[in-house]
Amino acid sequence: MFLSLVFLAELIAGISGFVFRHEIKDTFLRTYTEAIQNYNGNDERSRAVDDVQKSLSCCGVQSYTNWTSSIYFHEHGIPPSCCSNMSDCNPSDMRNMTIVPHKVYQRGCYELVTNFMETNMGIIAGVAFGIAFSQLIGMLLACCLSRFITANQYEMV
Ligand SMILES: *[C@@H]1O[C@H](CO)[C@@H](O)[C@H](O)[C@H]1NC(C)=O
Ligand SMILES: *[C@@H]1O[C@H](CO)[C@@H](O)[C@H](O)[C@H]1NC(C)=O
Ligand SMILES: *[C@@H]1O[C@H](CO)[C@@H](O)[C@H](O)[C@H]1NC(C)=O
Repeated sequence: MFLSLVFLAELIAGISGFVFRHEIKDTFLRTYTEAIQNYNGNDERSRAVDDVQKSLSCCGVQSYTNWTSSIYFHEHGIPPSCCSNMSDCNPSDMRNMTIVPHKVYQRGCYELVTNFMETNMGIIAGVAFGIAFSQLIGMLLACCLSRFITANQYEMV
């Protein structure tokens, strides 16, 4: 009973991840755009944005120009986590849109994250299906084996 519940949960997770991948992408786009709009450089969400930009070498949603409409940009310019060279990241340069294009990552983060997701969603779904089906076979074996043994016991008696 427990195993069949686990089996069902895995099957649902695998299928829904695949079916709803467009919704997942849309949600990420909305959340990430909002996080950039309200970025302040201090809170949890801002640090998450910094982490994504630094670790994926990307800037903004589709491009670094997306930062220009944020609250943060009007006070501080583009955040340092966009700088492609940390030792060449002058705060005053980050406000000047003539200089910025030469100093920040050119790629937007949205495409990179969703590409990664698309590439790996197939693998994740495949693994979920694989585990789910091997458990199904295990359950069938266990069921049939116990019936086989029970039947043989009656024969032996
Ligand atoms: C980000 O900037 C690009 C290029 O300027 C623009 O096409 C896109 O609509 C912007 N995206 C958001 C979410 O503001
Ligand atoms: C980073 O910037 C510093 C200072 O301008 C420069 O000396 C260095 O060569 C740059 N590094 C890279 C990898 O471009
Ligand atoms: C931006 O930088 C360029 C090139 O260094 C400079 O000519 C321009 O005056 C700067 N603009 C502002 C608003 O500081």
